[in-house]
Amino acid sequence: MTDLARADTGASRLAANRERIASRIVGRERELELTLAAVAAGRDILLEGPPGTSKTTMLTAITEEWGIPLLFVEGNADLTPAKLVGHHNPARVLQEDYSAENFVAGPLVEAMKEGGFLYIEEFNRAPEDTLNTLLTAMADRSIAVPRVGRIHAKPTFRVIASMNPYDNVGTTRLSTSVHDRLNRLSVDYQDTPSEQRIVALRTAAQGELGERLIADAVAVTRATRRHPDLKQGSSVRGAIDCVLVATKLAELRDLRSPDDERYPELVFDAMIVSLSGRIHLDEAIETTPERVLREIWEDRFILEPHAAAPG
Ligand SMILES: Nc1ncnc2c1ncn2[C@@H]1O[C@H](COP(=O)(O)OP(=O)(O)OP(=O)(O)O)[C@@H](O)[C@H]1O
Ligand SMILES: [Mg+2]
Repeated sequence: MTDLARADTGASRLAANRERIASRIVGRERELELTLAAVAAGRDILLEGPPGTSKTTMLTAITEEWGIPLLFVEGNADLTPAKLVGHHNPARVLQEDYSAENFVAGPLVEAMKEGGFLYIEEFNRAPEDTLNTLLTAMADRSIAVPRVGRIHAKPTFRVIASMNPYDNVGTTRLSTSVHDRLNRLSVDYQDTPSEQRIVALRTAAQGELGERLIADAVAVTRATRRHPDLKQGSSVRGAIDCVLVATKLAELRDLRSPDDERYPELVFDAMIVSLSGRIHLDEAIETTPERVLREIWEDRFILEPHAAAPG
């Protein structure tokens, strides 16, 4: 096969597609490759992972590259089948009776018609009958809407579900029949260098102070995920906000260098604002978010100050 012929094959098109999508996100090569393989194969997938692990970022990058819509739906007890599918405008029904014209499409029908990805976050919180509606749409790639007719999905329609493995409040335990109809990928937290690159990208913090803040914010945020008194630690969003808040605090306090003796306290204050609401205490332990954060801060800045040093 000549190079030209090879460049024309579907395989190299998909690989080139992957490269373009990868250029929009930091790291996550394996997660992106596996997710892309599933959706390119025409399949639906469940992404299971804690908050802030690039699920939305990856899907946004894929759908933007494909030029198709990404429709978000939050799974909760209020997500009835009617909300997902759509409803007839009641005022117009009174005047005109039911018709296809006065049907207001819900996100499922919209995603099917537009050939978009329907992204259902906290999938396991949706009621059973809603999940069943979804499963039927996934299996048939079409849906019968009363008084409207059968709506057929465009070929790029996909259902992407996500859920947080730590989440057990108000959730439906997914039945084996639901699991049997979905592909699944478990996504975990990014590694330290990737988190640092993400935080650098999202905060644009630079210079000696910015670089030290990024390293410290990522380190203390990661420590919240290992702390024995916490059920769940903070995602990379906490590290992003820690750097943003610390940068403003540094301006307010006229602190310009990480060698300033007030620097450790500055990081602690930024941690309180950015992390105390993002960590979830183990109910069985009597402590406070502030106390846990103090411990993490002491580990970084007092017990192991060498860890906080640059390099
Ligand atoms: N790989 C990445 N590249 C660039 N930015 C990222 C990446 N991962 C996460 N981020 C940034 O971190 C934040 C959270 O990421 P994202 O929204 O993708 O997480 P998520 O897995 O969808 O979380 P949730 O389960 O809470 O919805 C976003 O602000 C995003 O910009
Ligand atoms: Mg998300």
